[in-house]
Amino acid sequence: MRLAPVVDRQIDELMDLAEIENPKGSVRVNPDLEVPRYISAQDIHRMPGNYHGTYGERDVRQGAVFDRGAVVYQMGRNGGYMNDIRGHTIISHFFSRWPEGKPLRILDMGCTVGHSTLAIASYFPEAETHALDVGAGMMRYAHARAERLNIPVHFSQQNAECTDFEDESFDLITSSAMLHETSGKALPNIFKECHRLLKPGGVMAHLEVPGRYDEMDTWSRIRGDYEIQYNYEPFWKGAITADFDKLCKDAGFNDIAVGYQDATVKAERGNTQFGGPSKGVHRSWLMISGVK
Ligand SMILES: C[S@@+](CC[C@H](N)C(=O)[O-])C[C@H]1O[C@@H](n2cnc3c(N)ncnc32)[C@H](O)[C@@H]1O
Repeated sequence: MRLAPVVDRQIDELMDLAEIENPKGSVRVNPDLEVPRYISAQDIHRMPGNYHGTYGERDVRQGAVFDRGAVVYQMGRNGGYMNDIRGHTIISHFFSRWPEGKPLRILDMGCTVGHSTLAIASYFPEAETHALDVGAGMMRYAHARAERLNIPVHFSQQNAECTDFEDESFDLITSSAMLHETSGKALPNIFKECHRLLKPGGVMAHLEVPGRYDEMDTWSRIRGDYEIQYNYEPFWKGAITADFDKLCKDAGFNDIAVGYQDATVKAERGNTQFGGPSKGVHRSWLMISGVK
């Protein structure tokens, strides 16, 4: 990717811009965090430095690289420069199943620079929104971006499999395109961690790529294999063959739903855009949701 040199040319200015006076949200980094090997072993999407690379105490490099890289990778089809349609789609799913839902504490796992997080938080201005990912530079950039877009979020550098949040401390836990970048071993740990963190009656809602291996035609399978081999997405196939219903049940969830939600730029309460067939990439997303 040729974005890294563009960021490197401007890195001093970007680090200065990331120093926020009187922030409404916060950022917490953990230099001792052990980055899971399914992330550290290779540069996912061939992004140099991957999600977790960090180059000093004020660094924001990987956040800047991802912020622009994701828009190029999606060719603008996920909400242009905001890259946030997936966040709106998660809340559209939440509103389709729980039209009266008003979470007061929200956690977005695998948030990267917060593209989806800010869309999610925008529907619940009364709520305290938290978000986590594994890179310190990524979290610093996400924090600066959220502050400059005036949406307070509390970012922390943590592993979604085992966070430091208290039991039963969230009403809604989300993730967007995180599960296919973990591993078969990590998936049950993440679902169990969501269950531990949710209050009774709280909702988990994960968004994933809009295809199941069994339903794909040959060309889509070949394209997927190309992603795995050449775009360094080693767990993509594991995610699209995973038995999400069982993972939810094994973690203790009830009222489970696994199905397609239409992509949207604005979530409406009581919408009926869940449960039909996949309309394909960027038109639908797979949602996996359940209640504690
Ligand atoms: C494709 S990106 C997600 C994009 C982002 N959620 C959005 O919608 O814009 C996948 C993210 O999941 C994160 N991730 C994967 N496994 C994780 C884990 N165990 N703990 C925290 N973050 C994780 C990666 O570091 C990466 O930032």
